[in-house]
Amino acid sequence: MNHNYRDAPVDTKSAESLATQNLTLATVDTTDAAAFGSWLQAESRGFHDGTVDDEMIAAWVEGLAYRRTTGVFDGTTTDTAAPVATVSSWIAPLTVPGRRTVDAWAISAVTVAPTHRRRGVARDLLESELRTAAALGVPLATLTVSEATIYGRFGFAPSVMAADWTINTRRATWTGTVPHGRVQFISIDEFLEQGPAILEAARLASPGQVEPWPLLWKRIAGRVPGDKDASKNIRVVRYDDVAGDPQGFAVYRMIENTGEMFGFTLDVLFQTSTTDDAYAGLWRFLVEMDLTTEITAKLRAVDEAFSWQVSDFRSARKTTQRDHLWTRIIDVKAALEARDYSAHGTIVLEVADPLGFAEGRYLLTIADDGAATVDLLLGDVPDDAAHVALSVNALSAIYLGGVSAVTLTRAGRITEVREGSSSALDASFRSAVTPWLSIWF
Ligand SMILES: CC(C)(COP(=O)(O)OP(=O)(O)OC[C@H]1O[C@@H](n2cnc3c(N)ncnc32)[C@H](O)[C@@H]1OP(=O)(O)O)[C@@H](O)C(=O)NCCC(=O)NCCS
Repeated sequence: MNHNYRDAPVDTKSAESLATQNLTLATVDTTDAAAFGSWLQAESRGFHDGTVDDEMIAAWVEGLAYRRTTGVFDGTTTDTAAPVATVSSWIAPLTVPGRRTVDAWAISAVTVAPTHRRRGVARDLLESELRTAAALGVPLATLTVSEATIYGRFGFAPSVMAADWTINTRRATWTGTVPHGRVQFISIDEFLEQGPAILEAARLASPGQVEPWPLLWKRIAGRVPGDKDASKNIRVVRYDDVAGDPQGFAVYRMIENTGEMFGFTLDVLFQTSTTDDAYAGLWRFLVEMDLTTEITAKLRAVDEAFSWQVSDFRSARKTTQRDHLWTRIIDVKAALEARDYSAHGTIVLEVADPLGFAEGRYLLTIADDGAATVDLLLGDVPDDAAHVALSVNALSAIYLGGVSAVTLTRAGRITEVREGSSSALDASFRSAVTPWLSIWF
């Protein structure tokens, strides 16, 4: 695989399409601080954020320079250095079932200036991203999205859901295991030093996790350039197992409840653990915090063990549940062979893809150990094979094992060519661990 993605050539098809509107598609030299700065300001404006100050720009220029950074330029505007559309992409390993990872084309910063909206600029950008990823041999693309209405037409579908949780700690008594390790406070500097290795180990446990990047890591710790106060209220605790090895951490802040003296909401900003023991140790610590009425935790899995570790099941509830990670398979063989499966079997997949990348009739053969091989099926469908017809969206939705093929069949998104095949898909595709992605990108 070609990892020199930053300098891969601009997609000619989209460049030609944009040129018909006198617009220029070009990658930005991220070592050129002025050019990259203009692109960053355009991206910020595209998301309706304010003008970015110099300190922030300097931090972003340094921290995000490794990404492929693309803009659409209009030579007739007052500031020709400022792109009228932006997109950024990089290869971000994605955890798939079986504690494995696959290289995925992470797409971010998709904006089109309000002055240039709804003339097909985003379509040209998205299609160029998919063609660029395909040319580089990257088997699938990923996104987290502002709106759920945009990306289906490009073959993406939600594959990882996220939930925001609230735990009423006045009603919740810890009834889970009481781990023998210890929880201790660490400084933000220690967290910045030690946290990445813990997350690196934890990341493999949940399909859907995406490798974070150093700037994001600092943001979790409140080290936000241009905002000296951001880390002021942040506390970090680490869990060490009985052998003294760090196995998890929680980053949180206390928010004083309005109108209540000494009553706090404990807001969990990030929590990760490599073992169930560490998970229990950290959540017990949080649930038992004195002077606290409530815990809030955003961007958690939709299925959290802590709801089974408190005395009152209704004390832990999801306040929101929604789509989070969207995936788009580009190369069916490479993507499907990159993960493990829960049950052996033979499945024929007739995949429809209007953009062409994934279109085809595939034979997925899963061995007893859960490893798979995928081949284009030229001959007859084997007698014992499950057999379905589905869009690339539906295949991308079930890919990480968190979306049910039976549900998609009931929804009319998967067609069973052989009756009962969607149950066979679920038996093989479903992940024992609920997919979870703990970051936005
Ligand atoms: C979303 C955004 C990138 C769309 O850009 P655009 O250039 O206007 O989009 P296009 O003209 O290329 O539209 C492509 C298709 O998407 C549809 N579309 C575009 N924006 C949409 C939206 N917000 N909701 C639903 N559909 C949308 C168009 O109708 C068009 O559909 P069609 O090709 O099937 O006819 C732009 O409005 C924007 O920058 N929004 C604010 C930032 C943002 O939300 N970015 C997305 C981050 S994940």
